[in-house]
Amino acid sequence: MGMVVTIDGPAASGKSSVSRELARRLGWNWVSTGAFYRGLAFAALQLQIDLDDVKALADLTHNPVWKVTMEDDRTRVYFDGEDVTDLIAHEDVGNFASKVSHYPEVRKALLEAQRNCSNGPQGLVAEGRDCGTVVFPQAQAKVYLTAHSEHRAARRAAELGLDQEDMVRAQKQRDHQDSTRKVAPMAVPEDAFVVDTTTLNLEQVVEKVVTYVKAKI
Ligand code: DC
Repeated sequence: MGMVVTIDGPAASGKSSVSRELARRLGWNWVSTGAFYRGLAFAALQLQIDLDDVKALADLTHNPVWKVTMEDDRTRVYFDGEDVTDLIAHEDVGNFASKVSHYPEVRKALLEAQRNCSNGPQGLVAEGRDCGTVVFPQAQAKVYLTAHSEHRAARRAAELGLDQEDMVRAQKQRDHQDSTRKVAPMAVPEDAFVVDTTTLNLEQVVEKVVTYVKAKI
């Protein structure tokens, strides 16, 4: 494993924007581990696989019909040769992703592919829910981003052009599912640097995180 920095936190806490900018400044790769769960849920929906059929979902994790690639601007997902990155960004796919992410068999099957992202010659910034606790417990630096739920929902609703109230409800439900599941729940890693982004702009968050990470690596 090369050098790794993890950034965890709830839905729309700014993980992707901060990870992308941190990776750019360090000259490292970055991966959104949520893309694996979103990609799997999307593929299951396309193939009409029941989201409660754990065996079929676990088999689908290895099916080459879908794949995740790390790129500088985004973690991309391809299904049947087509780039579906924009489609999986929808909140309903996020909710399905949260559902399939409950199954230990699914998490176990996706773990190796997530860990393999750190095999490249440069370092890796990995973001998600359990990156600092389960995927990369040995990471050189761990960050946890948080923000008030109304603020996070407003941010994501504006990005996707959706109603803010609906978004508050959907994200609260997803955060509840993600933090109360039995396996690898969303949690603040013991040794994490916690940043509340509610009153900060992206540049201010990035400054804090970059300063912290540079001192640790
Ligand atoms: O970060 P995101 O919104 O793309 O994640 C979508 C869902 O995937 C999230 O609600 C729960 C699941 N997930 C997870 O269980 N563990 C991760 N490390 C990342 C995402």
